[in-house]
Amino acid sequence: MKRIAVFASGNGSNYEAIATACANHNLDAEVVLLVVDKPGAYVLQRAEKFGTPVLAFSPKDYAFKSDYETIIADRMDELKVDLVCLAGYMRIIGDVLLSRYGGRIINIHPSLLPAFRGAHAVEQAVEYGVKVYGITIHWVDATLDGGKIIAQRAFEYDGNDSEEVHRLGQIIEHQLYIETINKLI
Ligand code: GAR
Repeated sequence: MKRIAVFASGNGSNYEAIATACANHNLDAEVVLLVVDKPGAYVLQRAEKFGTPVLAFSPKDYAFKSDYETIIADRMDELKVDLVCLAGYMRIIGDVLLSRYGGRIINIHPSLLPAFRGAHAVEQAVEYGVKVYGITIHWVDATLDGGKIIAQRAFEYDGNDSEEVHRLGQIIEHQLYIETINKLI
């Protein structure tokens, strides 16, 4: 059984999809750690329900990214983490995590990369007026949403309601993340 760490910053619906799939044996894996960089994030309430161990921190309490990334990597070593799944973790992964966990970190992003990188992909795509939206899962490297693509899924939407695009996209995200993790492990 593979050991997964999930990183999140906010709502945590992708964390919950992964944790649920593990609990239901739809994934031969266990979420052994949830890493959260926002102490008040709703994902922490979801983690309580599943009993997932949490490492929560505020980046502003550390002088350098390498300081908190060392703490995260040490904890992941102790827990023998096989795969890191970024799930709405709104922070660039730094040198420490890349050197120690590179090649084992994946991210889910709400656009058809390489279009619309960054934190506001859906809003930018709606503003641009695209008609085909999508979700990408990719390996994480030192670039912003730029690592090698593992999986993509598209959907059509002809309108200007970004909330609706988020809603449609998240339904796909939860399915695609589980399918992709299953293939990788
Ligand atoms: C997801 O839609 C994910 O694709 C996005 O954050 C959301 C988190 O939702 N990630 C990015 O934009 C990364 N650049 P969740 O907290 O409900 O899982």
